[in-house]
Amino acid sequence: MILAVAQTKGGVGKTTLAVNIAIERLRLGHDVLLVDADDQRTASDFTALRQDLTGSTGYTAIELSGAAVRAQVLKLAPKYDDVVIDVGGRDTASLRAALTVADVVLAPFMPRTFDVWTLGKMAELVAEARIYNEGLRAYAVLNLCDPMGGDNMAAAEALKGNPEILYLNAPVGRRKAFPNAAAVGKGVVEMERRDSKACGELSYLVAKAFTA
Ligand SMILES: Nc1ncnc2c1ncn2[C@@H]1O[C@H](COP(=O)(O)OP(=O)(O)OP(=O)(O)O)[C@@H](O)[C@H]1O
Ligand SMILES: [Mg+2]
Repeated sequence: MILAVAQTKGGVGKTTLAVNIAIERLRLGHDVLLVDADDQRTASDFTALRQDLTGSTGYTAIELSGAAVRAQVLKLAPKYDDVVIDVGGRDTASLRAALTVADVVLAPFMPRTFDVWTLGKMAELVAEARIYNEGLRAYAVLNLCDPMGGDNMAAAEALKGNPEILYLNAPVGRRKAFPNAAAVGKGVVEMERRDSKACGELSYLVAKAFTA
């Protein structure tokens, strides 16, 4: 399956989720291609660090931009069980190309008012992509959720009811395990001292996204 993690909003955890999803699929025994379609190349930097610190990445990683995202992913997808595409935090040709080729797009949202306002923009992009990619399944997911308070629920409500992008009820909390794992080139599910909540949320998100 081809899964794109995409949002026009920056800093919502796209790369964090993309690499952790790729690593979780790897852990489940799948052959994974990680596509870095963000010119910032954060996923590639993570992969280089992972190679250096752990000796191997486990997945195959490539960098693509613009129309090549569609052309190359279409060409390479049959060679892998899963393709995970990390897209940059702006409306770019790469983002649009990723949406035309993905089976599923996950759009992470932080539980903040300004963040949920980009749902409309993402919905427009998804609707446009469906002209070429009729079967595209699109989901909004909360990331960086607060440990408590009403903002998570308010944000979840704000993300519900959009006809283009459905709300996927698999929120991921703001958990130090994510940056801690990234700093040593790992996914949260690979850490020796596992944060059970981070791992549980991530595994649940992956299970839901790949069966959605
Ligand atoms: N669930 C989480 N818990 C804790 N920290 C997180 C979580 N998700 C992301 N972060 C942190 O938030 C910051 C932004 O995450 P990330 O770089 O993945 O976002 P992004 O959407 O890819 O950003 P960009 O738009 O710049 O590509 C990073 O410091 C990352 O470690
Ligand atoms: Mg990123």
